[in-house]
Amino acid sequence: MRKPVLITLGAGAAAIGLAALAITSGRTGAQAPKSVADSLKAPVLAAGDTSALRGPRQPIFFRHDIHAGQFKIQCQYCHYSVAVSSEPGIPSMQTCMGCHNVIAGTDSSHKVEIKKLRDASSQKKPIEWTRVHFVARHVHFPHMRHIQVLGPNACQTCHGDVARMPQVYKVNNVNNMGFCITCHEQRGVTRDCAVCHY
Ligand code: HEC
Ligand code: HEC
Ligand code: HEC
Ligand code: HEC
Ligand code: HEC
Repeated sequence: MRKPVLITLGAGAAAIGLAALAITSGRTGAQAPKSVADSLKAPVLAAGDTSALRGPRQPIFFRHDIHAGQFKIQCQYCHYSVAVSSEPGIPSMQTCMGCHNVIAGTDSSHKVEIKKLRDASSQKKPIEWTRVHFVARHVHFPHMRHIQVLGPNACQTCHGDVARMPQVYKVNNVNNMGFCITCHEQRGVTRDCAVCHY
């Protein structure tokens, strides 16, 4: 995983760090579509009430369309273990603060949400994100097996275009066995009950 280069540097360095991230992710073919650069600018949204958006409301209005879309931060920068573990990994406070010690936000709704993050950090309170995708306990889903075969940009196949989502929601019903079996059938992958069920 690439560590934030920007941790203790000034705001100028942070901007350079982000530009570097954007360039690298462009070269390696990141998730975000490259053709229509202008439409990548995430829309302005008020943070006060996100209940009109699809998906569960989160303790902090963290926007994938800004981080992964507009600023092209790669999925694996935050979901660091997706290619090596069953669990993709949710970024720690430290990962967020690597940037947000410096980045306070430009518009007022961003400032309000980033302040919540900074307050939680100074109080050492972890953020309790509400989980969106969750298979039943008797089911085994190894992310790494899928990323190794389907590639690092396969997230979209199952999760939809997260880089365009202000708030994450479920595009595919992962709690329906048919969703898994259809693809396994198409790709000639095992359908043995015991590989998925404990
Ligand atoms: C690589 C740098 C980077 C990292 C890591 C990062 N952010 Fe950001 N974040 C940004 C930038 C750039 C903006 C846009 C700031 C602006 O212009 O208002 C932003 C904006 C935000 C905003 C306001 C817009 C929005 O999304 O609602 C919030 C809240 C936020 N970040 C939370 C987080 C949290 C929580 C984490 C960790 C899970 C995190 N950020 C990790 C760079 C980063
Ligand atoms: C700056 C850090 C950051 C980046 C970059 C990032 N994510 Fe996330 N992601 C988070 C955080 C924090 C959460 C938990 C809060 C939420 O659900 O919005 C999350 C949640 C998710 C979820 C929902 C998890 C659940 O509970 O089911 C999915 C799916 C996801 N991310 C996919 C992606 C994909 C795909 C990309 C790249 C296009 C990406 N993420 C880039 C930080 C990030
Ligand atoms: C083949 C389908 C598939 C692909 C491809 C896939 N995921 Fe998932 N993802 C799932 C399923 C199913 C779950 C729920 C797993 C569980 O409950 O154990 C999930 C859960 C998650 C979560 C929530 C985990 C948590 O601990 O809260 C995140 C974050 C996530 N995926 C990110 C990604 C990212 C990033 C990629 C691409 C690098 C990706 N996923 C690729 C199917 C997929
Ligand atoms: C988009 C296609 C796709 C979807 C959807 C999908 N899988 Fe897979 N899955 C694959 C591929 C391809 C492999 C083969 C990986 C390999 O050869 O190592 C695989 C492998 C697996 C394995 C390892 C099999 C083994 O031989 O050990 C498990 C377990 C698994 N998937 C569970 C699931 C579950 C559970 C779901 C639904 C929540 C799911 N998969 C959805 C494509 C998919
Ligand atoms: C590729 C992975 C995969 C394979 C192979 C698979 N299942 Fe499933 N199965 C799932 C998923 C995912 C669910 C939905 C779990 C949930 O509710 O989150 C499920 C749900 C079920 C349920 C419903 C249980 C409930 O939660 O209500 C039964 C029964 C079941 N499977 C039996 C089987 C049998 C029998 C086989 C072999 C013929 C099989 N499964 C093969 C992934 C798989």
